[in-house]
Parts: sequence; C-alpha cells; structure tokens
Amino acid sequence: MLELKDFCFTIDKDGEPLNLIDRVNLKIPKGHFMAIVGPSGCGKTTLLNTIAGLNEMSEGYIYWDGRDLEQEGDLDPAELGYVPQFSIAYDELTVDESIEAVTKLRVKTHDIDDLDQRIDRVLEETGLAPIADRLVKVLSGGQKRRLGLAMELVTDPTLLLCDEVTSGLDPRSERDIVRRLHDLSRRDGRIVISVTHSLAHLELYDSILVLHEGRVAYHGPPAGLTHYFSVEDTEEIYPRLAKQDSNKWRKSWEKHVDIYYQKIEKNRLKLIESGKLSVPLVAAKKTPYDDQTATTPIEIEDEDWDDIDNSSSRLTSKRKNKNKKTDQSSDQPSNDIIKEASEHVRTPGAFSQFCTLLARRWKIFFRDRGQVFLQLAIMICFPLIVILFADQGNVNLRNFSDAGTDYSISGLKELNAIASNRAKVGGAVSGIIMFQMVLLALMGSNNAAREIAGERKIMEKEKFGGVSPSAYLLSKITFLVAIILVQSLIMGIAVESAWNFKGAISTSYVNHFTFLVMINAAMTFICLGISSMMKTAEKASLLSIYLVGFQLPLSGAVLALPHTVGEFTRPFISAYWAWAGSLDHLQTGYYDAVKDVTQTPIDPGSSTCITILAAQIILGLILTYIGIKRHQWEH
Ligand SMILES: Nc1ncnc2c1ncn2[C@@H]1O[C@H](COP(=O)(O)OP(=O)(O)OP(=O)(O)O)[C@@H](O)[C@H]1O
Ligand SMILES: [Mg+2]
Repeated sequence: MLELKDFCFTIDKDGEPLNLIDRVNLKIPKGHFMAIVGPSGCGKTTLLNTIAGLNEMSEGYIYWDGRDLEQEGDLDPAELGYVPQFSIAYDELTVDESIEAVTKLRVKTHDIDDLDQRIDRVLEETGLAPIADRLVKVLSGGQKRRLGLAMELVTDPTLLLCDEVTSGLDPRSERDIVRRLHDLSRRDGRIVISVTHSLAHLELYDSILVLHEGRVAYHGPPAGLTHYFSVEDTEEIYPRLAKQDSNKWRKSWEKHVDIYYQKIEKNRLKLIESGKLSVPLVAAKKTPYDDQTATTPIEIEDEDWDDIDNSSSRLTSKRKNKNKKTDQSSDQPSNDIIKEASEHVRTPGAFSQFCTLLARRWKIFFRDRGQVFLQLAIMICFPLIVILFADQGNVNLRNFSDAGTDYSISGLKELNAIASNRAKVGGAVSGIIMFQMVLLALMGSNNAAREIAGERKIMEKEKFGGVSPSAYLLSKITFLVAIILVQSLIMGIAVESAWNFKGAISTSYVNHFTFLVMINAAMTFICLGISSMMKTAEKASLLSIYLVGFQLPLSGAVLALPHTVGEFTRPFISAYWAWAGSLDHLQTGYYDAVKDVTQTPIDPGSSTCITILAAQIILGLILTYIGIKRHQWEH
C-alpha cells in the first residue's frame, strides 16, 4: 500500500512559504488504478513528482508497505516507473533498440534469453510488437506514449506513475492507453497512478483523486464523483470546484473519506474474489497511523450513491455499528488468488551501463546522417582552408634563410630582402599555427555544445531510473576522445604534408600533434561542461560559440593585447597555450622569426602550456560531472 500522511510540498514565494501540495492524505492499496484530475495548475504534476521523489517532500510522511520512505530509504529505481509527458526515446533508434538499451541500462539480466524475453514481454504488453522495427521519429503520438510506457515496464515496477500520457491523443488512442494502464494495474499488485486532464474513461479507474489548489477535494470511486459534487455530469465538476475555497473542499472531504474508502475496498475485494485482480502476498508493516486512521467497514449498497448522506452524523452512526470481525487490512486479502511478489530486479553495474551508453551513442551518431555529414565536412574542409592560407606562406618558407655576412651594397639589399622575407615567414608560421588551433577549438565546441543539453530530459529520466552519472560521463568522454583524435590527426597530417613545414619543426610532429589534440580536447570538454550546465542546447551552443570567438582576439597572436589585459585573460584562452606550446618546438631560426613579429610572449615553455591545457581539460570534466549530477528535472 502507498500511503501519504499530511504530505506537503512547499516553495518559498516572496519570502513566505507556499504549499503547492497541502496536507494530502491518501491510501492506495496494491493492484489499484488511480487517476489524478483537477483544473490546470492545481498541482497534479507536482504531487506526482513529489511522490516519485523528484521534488523533495517538505512535510509529512510517505509509506510504502508500511515502510517510511523518508526514514528508511527511497524505493529502488527498479520498483518505480515514471512515464513523463515528453518523449524519452532517441529519434534515430527503433522501438526495439530503445527498449533494449533501457533494459540493459536498468535491469541486470541473467543472459541474452532473459533480455529477449523481457523485451518481448513489454512489446506485447504495450502492443508495440508489430512496429518493433520502426524508427522512433516516425511513430505517432499514441505510439510514442506507448513506447514511453514500455520503457518503464522493463523493470516491472510496482509503482507506476504516468503524467498526462493521454494528452493530445485522439479518443481511440486515449482509450487504448487508459485500458492498457488499467490492465497493468491488475497484475502483480502494481499501483498505477495516472495524471490526466481528460474526464473521459473515468470508469476504468478504481479511484479518482480530485485536486484543487494542491488540496484533496475528493478521492473515491469514479461512480461517486457526480454524487459527491452534486452534479449531473463529470464535466461540471471543475466549475463546481471553483465555487468554493479549496480549504473548505478539503475539510468537507475529510468528513467523508471513510465511507468512500470503504467503497474502494469493497470494490477491490470483489475484484480479487472474481479473479480479475491478483496481488502479491507481501506482509505490510503497520504505519504509526494505521490505528489512528483505520477505516471501519460500513455497509454501502453497490452503486447506490444516493444512499450516502453527505452529513457526518450518518457516518458517526455507522461507526458505532462497526463489526470488528470484518476489519481486515487491505494488504492481506483472504483469497487464493495471491501471487508471490515478482523477482526483485537489480540495476546493472556502472561499467555495464557505460558499455550500453557508449554503444548507443555510436549507433545514434552513425544513424544521424546530418551529424555524420557535418563531421566529415568539418574534418575535410577545415584542414583544406588552412592549406589554402598556407600556400602563400610556402613561397616565403622556400626562400627562408638567415642573414648573411656580405655587407656590400648588393649584399645589404639582399640582407634587406632576407629580413623582409623573415618577417613574412614569422607571420606565416605564427598565423598558420594559430589558425589550426582556432579551427580545432571550433571543432571542439561543435563536438560538445549540444552533447548533454540536447538530451537533458532523457539523461535526467535515465539517472532517475538508476543510470550512474559516472557511467554517463565516461561514455561521453570515450565517444568524444575518439572524435577529437580523428579530427586532430587529419588536421595535423593534411596541413603538414601540404605545407613546407618540414624543416621548421626541429624535434618531431608528435609535439605539434600533442597541442592539436590538446586544444581540441580542452575546448571539447569545456564546452561539454557548458552543455551539462545549460538548460537548453541553444543556450549551450551560443555560449560555446562565443567562447571560440574570443580565442583569436584574446590570444594576442594577431594583435598584441595591453599587458595587464593579457595577463588576466590569457589563462582562459586555450588557443594561446596550444599556439605557444607548438611554437616552442620550432627550429631556432623559425622560432626567432616568429618572436620578431609578435609582441605577445611566446616563451612560457612547452611543459607549462601542456599543464595549463590539461588543467582546462580537467576543469571542463569537473564542470561536466557536476552538471550531470545536478538534478535538472523539468516537467
Ligand atoms: N518548483 C516550483 N516552483 C514554483 N512553482 C511551482 C513549482 N512547481 C510547480 N509550481 C507551480 O505550482 C502550480 C502547480 O503546477 P503543476 O505543474 O503541478 O500543475 P498541474 O496541475 O500539473 O497543471 P497542468 O494540468 O497544467 O499540467 C503551478 O502554478 C506551477 O507554476
Ligand atoms: Mg501537469
């Protein structure tokens, strides 16, 4: 049984506490299908999120089978299913692949057969089997909702929470989903709670909770709604609600709760006896409130709601007639249709989750033709642009020589030409290296800006379902490192093979490549950090582009910055450190030529440059980890 006692969710509004959920008391037995209805903004989603633990409960108690979830620990992620209104699947995957990935992430299966059986079962339960091979992006609204449901059912949750899963659907699809949820509540004692705007198909629910301004106005069988609110049609309930203050509704409801709960219980026992409902045998602990709030059996004629007197005097008189022999805990039905609780699902380890996340990331990458095309275009075109600019520098590089010792007039003219060429060579070498660095910085920002922000909702949902943030971070790092290496190597090899740089680098290409990789990695992981902190992919992209845009002017490679400004900004400019580090490995003649043409210090030393770039990478990763861990659930 799920039990809420004086359950509150409070926010701070203008310095004053405001109860968005106000002292809600509910008892929901196993094998129950409940709808939460109420006018827009009454707190339906907030209540659902607070039950799920996405919002922190401010006051009160929440019990699961008598266990105080606040004191004794939350439900296991596998025990709880939450189907949000938004789609939680990747467009590029098929229905089957989406369910497979989420199963691997959330369920520790014994073997491949176990995995297949689980996938087949949820495909059958949600009616998705015939379209298992279809891509998510071509699914209809109703099919997407069913997929969202299927992705939650893989763990066999005992508490299934659904937020507006039928909104925006045509009446047939809506009924189909409500019917499926109803059927799911009939198995294994599962509790299904569904928030809905729609007042259609209410007869399929075991109970309806009417919320008004965060307070309970009614919680009882659907058949009692019109009677309780004294209306002809359920459609008239919302206007009726608005006529009275929510506090009055709550107080009035408290007077009648027992009688309606008895009706719910009676209906439930009937279902169990007729074999339509099976509940597992779980010995529930008693909550401290059980004795206080124990409902007393009261005889009510079936469906004869007119017999229920709204006055509390009748209730009191009924209480006096209580028959202790018939008092039984709703969690211990005395019938034969009792199943053993289903086997407890265990969440896989972080390494297994990492492998699944990484495999899924590569699959999505290769399925997304636009992304593959963009990456290829960047990897090929960016080096080509550098080669194009380098071509002019090649002329000067070929003629590059140090000053001679002939001081005759013709000798001096030659010296002048050499000096002029030397300045051009210095400018070309410095410019080409900086150009490479800035383009790699741009690639880095393109790699990562949308990587987390673009799938935030899915990530939040998966984290909530038990996916480890470390596994998520590691999968992103591994995926991005592969991209970074390919991009940097293509840039390095293409440019240096086309450019007369061979004599310029005194030690080996390895040093130059190190800085190409490091600038790309620094920018990629800083932008990944930004992506993990931002609420939308657009904001993350914009900020990342600004960051790249500032690299060139603030590096001081083109125009020297005022000394004080340079000192302050330089530590943050990755391109500067990659540029200076690369220059450090030039042959002395070339190094001096660059030094002559730039007023910005180019001699911090290669190891300092590596250290600072490594620090930037680490900073980006720390930022990313914090961003991933941070709870950013938005409904
Ligand atoms: N974290 C929060 N901080 C401030 N206000 C909030 C927060 N969460 C919800 N609210 C406010 O609480 C009220 C209830 O919101 P909620 O989303 O639960 O309503 P709802 O009944 O689900 O509405 P709808 O039917 O439109 O989905 C709204 O006025 C909303 O703006
Ligand atoms: Mg809502």
